[in-house]
Amino acid sequence: MSVLVTGGAGYIGAHVVRLLVGSGREVVVVDDLSTGAADRVGDVPLLRIDLASDEAIGDLARAIRTHDVDAVVHIAAKKQVGESMQRPAWYYRQNVGGMANLLEAVQETGVERLVFSSSAAVYGVPDATVVDESVEPAPINPYGATKLVGEWMLADAGRATGLRHTSLRYFNVAGAGWPELGDPEALNLVTIVFDRMARGLRPLVYGDTHATADGTGVRDYVHVLDLADAHLAALDQLDAPGRRHAVYNVGTGIGASVLDVIRRISEVSGVPLEPEVIAARAGDPAELVADASRIADDLGWRARHGLDEIIASAWAADRARRSRPHD
Ligand code: WQD
Repeated sequence: MSVLVTGGAGYIGAHVVRLLVGSGREVVVVDDLSTGAADRVGDVPLLRIDLASDEAIGDLARAIRTHDVDAVVHIAAKKQVGESMQRPAWYYRQNVGGMANLLEAVQETGVERLVFSSSAAVYGVPDATVVDESVEPAPINPYGATKLVGEWMLADAGRATGLRHTSLRYFNVAGAGWPELGDPEALNLVTIVFDRMARGLRPLVYGDTHATADGTGVRDYVHVLDLADAHLAALDQLDAPGRRHAVYNVGTGIGASVLDVIRRISEVSGVPLEPEVIAARAGDPAELVADASRIADDLGWRARHGLDEIIASAWAADRARRSRPHD
């Protein structure tokens, strides 16, 4: 029996793969390598499949049978909010189309368990600053919408076939479990600051008049290793008896502001940083923090790492990546 991880060559997926292998599971990775890297998956079999392609259903069904897959962790997706605003139809084709193909292959082969990588982006700009899963999802961009549609598709598949599924709504993921598995892309605050430092530029703060303690945006930063661990807890729970929920926030319940993050980066790196405040970004909530009690109660999962470990591990990974000759 093995676990199929889509997007297993990506930043988050590679952490999930490594923890699964460490727990003694057989793993097979499906990744189109559009943003992932083959050297992140170690000795695990890697199948290059674009989930949104015409051949995907057949290729996935074959992979599931060949590797005796009994559970899927579906992480592969496009994840850039700005890009999703520019190319909405393509985002739906990639993320929703990819999920549709995967679910057809899952139904065809009779796989009974699936854990899905969803996002706090499904909440949009909620009224509450601390968000539990009862808050009505209201995504404000196509990226968030594709994640919400993915949750609905799973619910429908579950009703039709008895598929057991869990959607994990990730908050702000950062850090690295191993220096070689750091986030190579400058798409989120921590890695964007590193990228600007490397180019001799000051960190940018998107607005300092938000309704927060220091006026800058507050988010719930969760260590990628803790997040990966939540996938293992979710998989285990799919085999446990009793009533459970279909969606879980994955966060720490603790908020950190943009200035908190930049200050910490300065301390960890030893580089003095003087942030430059620019206009607030359109659509940014002032504060978005997870109520993480449901996942603690049902799955027994809690974040073990705080902001200090997130920044320290992300910085170590960034140093390692920049000192590798091929980068
Ligand atoms: C964090 C805070 C910014 C950059 C997004 C997606 C979400 C998920 C994670 C998934 C905000 C501020 C940022 C900078 C800044 N995506 N900021 N200067 O927007 O909370 O969430 O990424 O894969 O779906 O919406 O994350 O890291 O962009 O921003 O001041 O240079 O940092 O305004 O307050 P966000 P982020």
